[in-house]
Amino acid sequence: MRFLDLGSVCVLFFLLSCEPACGETSGVNPCCYLPCQNQGVCVRYAEDRYECDCTLTGFYGGNCTIPEFWTRVHHFLRPSPGVVHFILTHFSWIWDIVNSTSLRNTLMRLVLTVRSNLIPSPPTYNSKYNYLSWESYYNVSYYTRLLPPVPEDCPTPLGVRGEAGLPDPEQLVERLLKRRTFRPDPQGANIMFAFFAQHFTHQFFKSFNGMGLGFTRALGHGVDAGHIYGDNLERQLQLRLHKDGKLKYQLIDGEIYPPTIVDAPVKMTYPPTTPLEQQLSFGHEHFGLLPGLGMYATLWLREHNRVCDILKAVHPHWDDEQLFQTSRLIIIGETIRIVIEEYVQQLSGYHMKLKFDPTMLHRSDFQYSSRIALEFDHLYHWHPLMPDALIINGDTLTYQQFLFNTSVITHYGIENLVWAFSKQPAGQIGGGHNLHASMAHVAVKTIEASRLLRVQPFNEYRKRFNLKPYESFREFSDNEDIVHQLEELYHGDVNALEFYPGLLLEKTRPGAIFGESMVEMGAPFSLKGLLGNPICSPLYWKPSTFGGEVGFDIVNSATLKKLVCLNTKTCPYVAFRVPTQAELEEDNRKRKNEL
Ligand code: HEM
Ligand SMILES: *[C@@H]1O[C@H](CO)[C@@H](O)[C@H](O)[C@H]1NC(C)=O
Ligand SMILES: *[C@@H]1O[C@H](CO)[C@@H](O)[C@H](O)[C@H]1NC(C)=O
Ligand SMILES: *[C@@H]1O[C@H](CO)[C@@H](O)[C@H](O)[C@H]1NC(C)=O
Ligand SMILES: *[C@@H]1O[C@H](CO)[C@@H](O)[C@H](O)[C@H]1NC(C)=O
Repeated sequence: MRFLDLGSVCVLFFLLSCEPACGETSGVNPCCYLPCQNQGVCVRYAEDRYECDCTLTGFYGGNCTIPEFWTRVHHFLRPSPGVVHFILTHFSWIWDIVNSTSLRNTLMRLVLTVRSNLIPSPPTYNSKYNYLSWESYYNVSYYTRLLPPVPEDCPTPLGVRGEAGLPDPEQLVERLLKRRTFRPDPQGANIMFAFFAQHFTHQFFKSFNGMGLGFTRALGHGVDAGHIYGDNLERQLQLRLHKDGKLKYQLIDGEIYPPTIVDAPVKMTYPPTTPLEQQLSFGHEHFGLLPGLGMYATLWLREHNRVCDILKAVHPHWDDEQLFQTSRLIIIGETIRIVIEEYVQQLSGYHMKLKFDPTMLHRSDFQYSSRIALEFDHLYHWHPLMPDALIINGDTLTYQQFLFNTSVITHYGIENLVWAFSKQPAGQIGGGHNLHASMAHVAVKTIEASRLLRVQPFNEYRKRFNLKPYESFREFSDNEDIVHQLEELYHGDVNALEFYPGLLLEKTRPGAIFGESMVEMGAPFSLKGLLGNPICSPLYWKPSTFGGEVGFDIVNSATLKKLVCLNTKTCPYVAFRVPTQAELEEDNRKRKNEL
């Protein structure tokens, strides 16, 4: 089996894809064949009878495969994602012009609406309910599901695909995902970016496996800053100073840091041997894990308290509660701005300058709601970003040295960490073979969970996001080794390829951090989550919500650089990408002068 030639793969493919026409169907739930196309809904009737509900899909026919007239026209006119991406990442001279005209607004609005329209709102399925139900709508302890889970009574976790057996997750990770030698992101993302990704997303990816797979502790389902303030009121009250709206803090060498668990007694995960003074309290119980998470937590803590001072100066009569609540909304607004205008900008590689302006959607039919999807959580397991070691002030810190070691934060201080993390490149996420060994088990667990949760095959998600399903592993990857291994592991059936391995192993776009699918699937989830926030809605998005013009200005001018430099004494090089040689020299000069 190891050296399958193309011919035998085709035969195998044919045998596996002949389905009900030639196979024995009795007993198998017909919906296991995932027959309904174009978002048609499969409903089972008698033993082997099903119907596809094609309402509003723009298609008709037994499997919703025949396009209506306007669907045909629309599809003919719609440019392919590849072409759109190419235009957005090339022709910088066009974009230089677009950036500074109202065309920028028009295009940005188009990006937002086209992307968001791919996400159902209100949400639909969850991991228990593959049909619409009140429980699924109402019970926010579940992550939602974009595509319904494969029915429980199907022959395989993918329906009928993978009947010859799905690969052992350990093997899959060992042979295709584990890093050989570190491969930096060709778009130049740095460790500052990697830790931002992790810090930011953990406010809404908070799997509650104690309740079962497919549940979340983050009931805000979006950017609620629960990673700063805690995901419940009790925790928030422990973290608050109850004076001037501020959060509790401690001073070390005259600098503000998060309090210890002695002063803010909240549940945190630390190894039992951790000295008490090193057990810092954060909004998120796992943020003691990595110095980069502690660094961002410290920056946001300082920012929150700084904003409180500013609000108090203009509203001397406001009580602690109003100062706290208003600062929180400002922090949420700052976060969304930094995410869209800097973080997503870096990730996209677009020459078009992205813009966070909620008023763009105020006259459209955009729905202000957000429910985090399980697929989004799996998609965001971007562990290949992490390097082999952290390099701070010339010291090389291994995983053993920095995991659960908050003294790294206070030992170097925020400025040095920002500087070090901004200089060090992050790993390329896509393309395979770039996952540090210490996180291999996370990928294994993700694949195992996806089978128990009956996540549909990668190609079904391709179709859901208007992408052409791959017809072969050779089309899917341009890496000979990956093609061969996948053909062996998935017995030649590209339709059995699973969602998460598909995202991480797909050929990357030229010079890009990952492949087409990660962008085309990740962006809709991301933008819907960001713009669906209540602060973006017409009744919230105005100065009074943020304590007046002063607060609104903070939201409207937030940048990563300000987050760092308004909360530290010196202002190091800070960005989501590694510096150019010129920027590095400039910064070295500046640092020498400061010393
Ligand atoms: C040294 C760095 C890191 C370590 C040791 C680490 C470790 C882990 C572990 C142990 C889990 C839980 C796995 C499970 O129980 O299934 C997890 C989940 C996750 N990680 Fe990481 N991770 C790291 C960095 C990152 C980065 C840079 C990102 C970037 C986005 C990231 C994204 C995620 C996501 C989205 C989850 C799922 C969270 C959830 O559903 O609760 N991680 N990670
Ligand atoms: C619908 O799809 C199934 C297999 O998924 C196929 O057997 C059947 O012929 C299709 N029906 C129509 C009307 O296209
Ligand atoms: C347009 O925006 C892109 C992305 O931020 C940037 O690289 C480019 O320099 C900008 N051009 C102008 C003229 O602002
Ligand atoms: C949500 O569903 C879970 C699992 O059935 C259940 O334990 C939990 O109590 C439900 N939550 C609410 C608010 O009903
Ligand atoms: C934790 O970090 C500090 C400061 O970088 C370092 O001196 C110490 O050795 C680290 N602890 C462990 C257990 O590696």
